Amino acid sequence: MEVITFYDEENNKHAYKKYKGYTFSIDFLGNDGELLEKIAQRTIKDDDVLVNVYPKSGTHWLYNTVMMLRSGTLDYHGTPTMMELQDFNLIEEMPSPRTFGSHLRCRFLPEQMKNGKGKVITITRNPKDIVVSLYHMIRQFKRFVGYEGTFDGIVKYFLTEQFFTFGSWFSWTKDMEEWNSPNCLTLCFEDFKKNTFSNVVKLAKFLEVDHDEKFLQLVTENIRFEKLKENHIITVPSSEKWKEFSEDGRLPIYRKGQIGEWKHMFTVSQNEMFDKVFKEKVAELGLKTECCFE
Ligand code: A3P
Repeated sequence: MEVITFYDEENNKHAYKKYKGYTFSIDFLGNDGELLEKIAQRTIKDDDVLVNVYPKSGTHWLYNTVMMLRSGTLDYHGTPTMMELQDFNLIEEMPSPRTFGSHLRCRFLPEQMKNGKGKVITITRNPKDIVVSLYHMIRQFKRFVGYEGTFDGIVKYFLTEQFFTFGSWFSWTKDMEEWNSPNCLTLCFEDFKKNTFSNVVKLAKFLEVDHDEKFLQLVTENIRFEKLKENHIITVPSSEKWKEFSEDGRLPIYRKGQIGEWKHMFTVSQNEMFDKVFKEKVAELGLKTECCFE
């Protein structure tokens, strides 16, 4: 895969990997599409669950909810093993039932999953809050992950097809919407936050796990933002892998967990520009964007 590096007119630094016209993170492990081919051909088991989420939309929140429901415990499970960012064999070696993650656009997911095997769960979030969340996270990173520069620069970059976290949110979301299969469930970040219990019930039903209401209430309590943030520090050991990114060897995933943080960051002109492109892209791609974005 080719790595493209460039500086925009404000001198912000950008880099991404390009393969067959698609954008990938520079941390994508593949070379010449080999890993993509292996992922596409991966053998899927009936009880596999993939948490496939656009970065900063609630991957950890969703993954940990799924893990509590599947394990029948309230344990915190940290970061999912990611199909495209970690060694291929890690998932092969996992005991069943396996739950793993990915930020890949749907066209690159395992063929067997696309044909209905296993389950796929995703969560969508207001893209303005995604940019804010991502900007704050990468600013804390010790090393360059694909963008270094101003907030204005990242807002503009986000609206392009070459955005460094697996391409444009718009076309990524379009891919996901096209899936539209009974083995895929889509949640909405904003609704998950406001109506957590009913979403936990929905997830339990989709995962076909049998728990009483008391346990589902306990899960609801244990996936609160403050609880997950605390558990991330208490229970996740500092790892060499993440030391590349952060001093304490843990990913700085949990910042505020709020809806509408963009209102504190976007200027009026950034917001107008974003809304204009959003409107055009939604019309061009025929996006449903059923979520309620505030
Ligand atoms: P913020 O940066 O806005 O706080 P991901 O896991 O995909 O990287 O997403 C991280 C975002 O999800 C962070 O957003 C994080 O705080 C938020 N998040 C995680 N758990 C949450 C929860 N229980 N409630 C609300 N937001 C949560």
